[in-house]
Amino acid sequence: MRGLVGKVAVLTGGARGIGAATALRLGSEGVAVALGDLHEEEAEAVASRIRDDGGQALAVRMNLREEDSVQRLVEAAVDRFGGIDLVVNNAGGSLGGDRNVAENEDRIWQSTWDLNLMGTVRVTRAALPHLLARGGGAIVNIASGSGTLATPGLAAYGTSKAAVIQLTRNVTAAYSHLGVRCNAICPGMIMTPGATAAMPSDVVARIAERIPAGRTGTPEDVAGLTTYLLSDDAAYVNGQVIHCDGGARDIGPSGPAR
Ligand SMILES: NC(=O)c1ccc[n+]([C@@H]2O[C@H](COP(=O)([O-])OP(=O)(O)OC[C@H]3O[C@@H](n4cnc5c(N)ncnc54)[C@H](O)[C@@H]3O)[C@@H](O)[C@H]2O)c1
Repeated sequence: MRGLVGKVAVLTGGARGIGAATALRLGSEGVAVALGDLHEEEAEAVASRIRDDGGQALAVRMNLREEDSVQRLVEAAVDRFGGIDLVVNNAGGSLGGDRNVAENEDRIWQSTWDLNLMGTVRVTRAALPHLLARGGGAIVNIASGSGTLATPGLAAYGTSKAAVIQLTRNVTAAYSHLGVRCNAICPGMIMTPGATAAMPSDVVARIAERIPAGRTGTPEDVAGLTTYLLSDDAAYVNGQVIHCDGGARDIGPSGPAR
């Protein structure tokens, strides 16, 4: 894709799932990737795969919930690669105890929002001055289909991802004139370690029945869209919320033809 060779990306949650697939894809497109994750060894394994394939990458142990830790990731990218052009706010997820509005204690709301919304805010806030110093760049926020359609039992997760979508629009409104594009992706059912752990296989099979594409998604499906949105091929795509779900969100109650 156009305009990626020689760029520098900061990516969170790069050890597994969508983040790992995206880091590998960006590395293969000639982007130097600084990937942060709670799981340092797995993140390092992804970084070393990129280097083994001739790319540039570093891994940093970081926790999205801690400002200092986010700063360390951003500083590591700048120190090693000389600046930052691209940001992928990917790390996040739902907490095991998330239920519905009347059942969730404050700690579930606060902890979920701290991870998904404030984690995205922290990384964006730390990285933006570096994008601006280079005359702009591109940001992709990984939200969720649960941020646009309500999912019973995921009240805190869904509202936090809706907030990530609104944050995406706010970044677009505030920084586009300085050369920064920002888009959000809403993955559907993507078979990653996180999704597999959270979802019993019969529920996955039931959801898969309603996906027009006839299958669940792969981390590489999301990685491809993210890479496109970061590239100059998407130079006029800005402030958008794009579903990567095989068409699941847009079919009526009769379900897809089979
Ligand atoms: N998989 C899906 O079906 C699906 C659907 C919609 C949205 N999403 C979103 O996509 C993103 C990636 O999901 P995934 O399924 O690949 O998840 P995953 O659980 O498989 O991987 C997430 C990665 O993020 C890291 N991480 C988690 N909390 C962190 C923290 N506090 N600090 C640093 N790193 C942290 C984990 O260690 C892990 O490597 C998440 O934001 C998730 O909400 C996923």
